[in-house]
Amino acid sequence: MKPRRIVLTIDGPGGAGKSTVARRLAERLGFAFLDSGAVYRAATWFVARLGLDWEDEAPILAALDDFHLRLEESRSGMKVFVNSIDVTVPIRLREVSNHVFHLARRPGVREKLVPLQRSFAEGRNIVAEGRDMGSVVFPDADLKVYLDASLEERARRRKKEHDARGEEVSLEVLQAEIQRRDHRDMMRTASPLSKPEGAFVLDATLLQVDQVLEILVQEAKRRKLV
Ligand code: C5P
Repeated sequence: MKPRRIVLTIDGPGGAGKSTVARRLAERLGFAFLDSGAVYRAATWFVARLGLDWEDEAPILAALDDFHLRLEESRSGMKVFVNSIDVTVPIRLREVSNHVFHLARRPGVREKLVPLQRSFAEGRNIVAEGRDMGSVVFPDADLKVYLDASLEERARRRKKEHDARGEEVSLEVLQAEIQRRDHRDMMRTASPLSKPEGAFVLDATLLQVDQVLEILVQEAKRRKLV
């Protein structure tokens, strides 16, 4: 009999530290890591490049038939390729961040992107992070985490990331953008951001990444998952 695979999900609003925590947790446990936000970002980058009208769903869905995504784990983190083009860096630009909602809110788009996420996770132990990992994509996950942090702290963290890339933006602008994105992610009807039932809820506002990691490892051990 094949050993049962273990699925850990981390959902929550942008900037709460999900990616860093999920990647480090996956490394620590020897699991694969799925950054589902990167899937939506890559699709947005792809559609934006074609110059399609964001309001016109049919051409967007048709275009996504030619969207071929590859996620590659590397020493420097996960690399993202769309039709063999390395888009790891451009998909993090604010230009992309601020347009993802056009795709993320469409059930038709999600129907195309969810199977990619599930197939990435097939047959292996995984830590998956995003907005609907525990609620929709992996409803049978063994541990569902909801990671939150205050808006101010999340904006500060995102600013550091943008500063490191030399992308100039004020804290106020970032905070307003994050707030708008949170609102859209929570209010949309297709797979909105929500706390999955039975979620392990953690507020990371005052915690360092290492502390969050330790709490999650202990919780996974308590449930005898690792
Ligand atoms: O996590 P990240 O900031 O990279 O996600 C970018 C956007 O992708 C989110 O604001 C959300 O609209 C969308 N997303 C989603 N479902 C996921 C992951 C991300 O709708 N599972």
